[in-house]
Amino acid sequence: MIVYGIDVGGSGIKGAPVDVSTGTLIDERRRIPTPRPAAPEPVIDTIAQLVEEAGWSGPVGVALPAVVQDGMVRTAANIDRSWIGVDARSQLVERLGLPVHVINDADAAGLAEATFGAAQAVGGMVLVLTFGTGIGSGMVFDGTLVPNTELGHVEFRGMEAERYAAARLVEEEDMNLEWWASRVGEYLRYLERIFWPRLFVFGGGISKRFETIAAIIETSTPVVPAHFRNRAGIVGAACAAAGEATEA
Ligand code: BGC
Repeated sequence: MIVYGIDVGGSGIKGAPVDVSTGTLIDERRRIPTPRPAAPEPVIDTIAQLVEEAGWSGPVGVALPAVVQDGMVRTAANIDRSWIGVDARSQLVERLGLPVHVINDADAAGLAEATFGAAQAVGGMVLVLTFGTGIGSGMVFDGTLVPNTELGHVEFRGMEAERYAAARLVEEEDMNLEWWASRVGEYLRYLERIFWPRLFVFGGGISKRFETIAAIIETSTPVVPAHFRNRAGIVGAACAAAGEATEA
């Protein structure tokens, strides 16, 4: 089954058709800069543009950087606040005229990594963390996603953890990479004391620099880079949509 996966990020909205039986992108990835403000209407228009340009007419999975319950957006830390309370699924179904599934972006990454990537066949708890504009968390237990965990918003060192350790600090605020990595290490050790995961998967665009910082991130739990790097949202959104289509 092929599903068109879309990942709405802080700087770009990316999409590609995904073979959900293997997790591979079967055509080029398209990217359109995220509109400013990233309010529902312009973002939905951009999603529609991606789908139309791809000539797509099948099911669509959309990953949003927000808590999503039954297609409804509940939070908006790094997108426009006007998303809160929006029934994203219904609006997208209406706009695209196609079946749509909406999922949190880090949950999508968690699904992709657990199904085809770095957390494949790992038993017990795995925390897939995506470092970008914020920090997203995809919690997976014995291969099953525990949705909407939002571990980027736990209070750490007197602030929300994502203020302390999001990759934005390096990418937009010129924080030294090694210094940032030591903060990530502190944050992971904190999560470790609470959840005792078997594995951390380090995701987000910055995961391509993982080799440079791996030695600085000192934890008892193994930390591995995300297999899908920043394609995880696209792949996971497509897989989630396929799962829903199969259940229905
Ligand atoms: C949001 C999460 C999202 C993460 C990564 C956080 O600020 O609250 O829902 O997964 O950023 O985009």
